[in-house]
Amino acid sequence: MAGRIPQSFIDDLLTRVDIVDVIDAYTTLKKAGKNFKGLCPFHQEKTPSFSVEPDKQFYYCFGCGAGGNALGFLMNYENMDYVEAIEKLAAQMGMEVPREESSAAQRSREKNQELYDVLQQCTLYFQAQLRQHPQKARAVDYLKSRGLSGEIARDFALGYAPPGWSNILDTIGTSESLKKALLNAGMLIENPDNKKNPIYDRFRDRITYPIRDNRGRVIAFGGRVMGDDKPKYLNSPETPVFHKGEELYGLFEARRSTRNLEKILIVEGYMDVIALAQNDITYSVATLGTATSTNHLRRLFKLVPEVIFCFDGDNAGREAAWRALEQTLPLMEDGRTARFLLLPNGEDPDTLIRKIGKADFENRVSSSTQLAEFFFQSLGQKVDMNSLEGRARLGRMALPYIEKIPPGIYHQLILDQLATITGVDLQTLGKLEKKPKEASVMETITVSQRLPRKTRAIGRSVCMRAVNLILLKPDVVNELEDDNELSEIESPDLDLLLQVIELARANPSSTTPELLGRIYATPLGTQLTQLLNREQITPVEGVSQEFREIMNHLLNSHRRQKDHRDSLAQARQMLSSRRNPAENPDSEPNQH
Ligand code: UTP
Ligand code: MN
Repeated sequence: MAGRIPQSFIDDLLTRVDIVDVIDAYTTLKKAGKNFKGLCPFHQEKTPSFSVEPDKQFYYCFGCGAGGNALGFLMNYENMDYVEAIEKLAAQMGMEVPREESSAAQRSREKNQELYDVLQQCTLYFQAQLRQHPQKARAVDYLKSRGLSGEIARDFALGYAPPGWSNILDTIGTSESLKKALLNAGMLIENPDNKKNPIYDRFRDRITYPIRDNRGRVIAFGGRVMGDDKPKYLNSPETPVFHKGEELYGLFEARRSTRNLEKILIVEGYMDVIALAQNDITYSVATLGTATSTNHLRRLFKLVPEVIFCFDGDNAGREAAWRALEQTLPLMEDGRTARFLLLPNGEDPDTLIRKIGKADFENRVSSSTQLAEFFFQSLGQKVDMNSLEGRARLGRMALPYIEKIPPGIYHQLILDQLATITGVDLQTLGKLEKKPKEASVMETITVSQRLPRKTRAIGRSVCMRAVNLILLKPDVVNELEDDNELSEIESPDLDLLLQVIELARANPSSTTPELLGRIYATPLGTQLTQLLNREQITPVEGVSQEFREIMNHLLNSHRRQKDHRDSLAQARQMLSSRRNPAENPDSEPNQH
């Protein structure tokens, strides 16, 4: 873990940077009064609606609602996270980013660095064996037999772990500390019961596939046998630098080969990714022998608006596709697309692309089944669509899934479609659908209607919207009066809201980046940076009013609920005292 960036540095950086220079590198800006105008780099347009305000160091697009400061611009345009954006700005200004860290953090970073170092050495070693080992022909022939060129082998840093129990151990594990690092990196296996080889190489006589992280550091390996031995693939175990459930094979390579990725294909195997790249389809990734998780998808949707799942066309493939669909639903915000490409029986992307070539394959990708279609198709197979009961059942089965889609236009479209398919009108469906309480509340906040489309709090609870607004304009918290009552509100996001209010109060007159900078690298900071990353920027003028309305709304509905509970409690009390007059001498005796 890299250390915390000192707040003073971020403050300093932001005072030195001019947002006009930063953005001018991406789109031509023309002076218009005290501001600058240009074509919005975030959406297609012919007349400029994109404005940069040097006074506030803020940009805003009246067309699509994008907006933010210099860091926000880079985060949004370059798909960077907060730290990456700071690093990029600093580099442009010729400033070095300093880090503060605790000694424990420093030690663990140094330990991890040792692992990265030995993993890199292993990569070079395996690559060298592919060129010079006496038995390299087997490996080279194997790769050739799978249609791979030397260039692709180089791009993916493929290598050859030669036969033998101690190649890595002898060449790289030359000191106790290196041996220890190799063990911790998963490259060696320790087995004290094995008298002859108490410690030996994990990867033996296999093709090696380095797995790289976002920054291109090797964090693990996959290794494939060249014949029919079992297991076909061997993978590094979980280590301090490798967390299987989070990594995607090929993502680093895909990002490196395409500057502005538009879509990503999710496939199952190492070889699928590589064979696709060999055929000039350089935007695929593979999960590492695990199912696609929401975590994986969240990462991908931060990079691209469209993901396409590739699965076998058989039953197992369809079931896996359905599970992927379930993971995707909560992420289907407006503007995102998910598709399903079910392959012909017996094919995987590797075999198929080699058969049909790039153009045909890409045709299949672009005409692959949209999420909604796949959803209704799959459910439709379970019922008799010709009968009224069957269609009603489909409606009942579909609703709980549709509820997982964040409120928004896409959600509405799918509901429309359900209405068409089942023949049940929308109003009735709407009643059946258990509306997320807070989302429907949002619809009553009229001011949000005036905000640009992108800024409406689609899919976010009212509390989260309030958090967002505080991030945009920290001084809105001055509008709040009664904290005690606030802390009684019932919402899963209340804690976060209270923390952010406290933070904004403790740092009066901070700007958004300053505020984020203060908590950067804390769990709260991470959570908020992610929020901001999803870029929900409102023109600053609207923030105060919306914040007031939201907070009033939260408090009012809390008060109503409380009144309701109080009167219920009162009623209960009265009832019980009637039943037990002895306990309550003041009450009148029963009439009967
Ligand atoms: P597949 O068996 O579909 O692999 O497993 P593949 O990529 O088509 O293999 P080739 O074409 O025969 O080389 C898909 C993925 O599941 C994991 C690997 O990540 C593999 O790429 N896997 C498979 C393992 O981890 N271990 C195994 O023994 C098999
Ligand atoms: Mn395969």
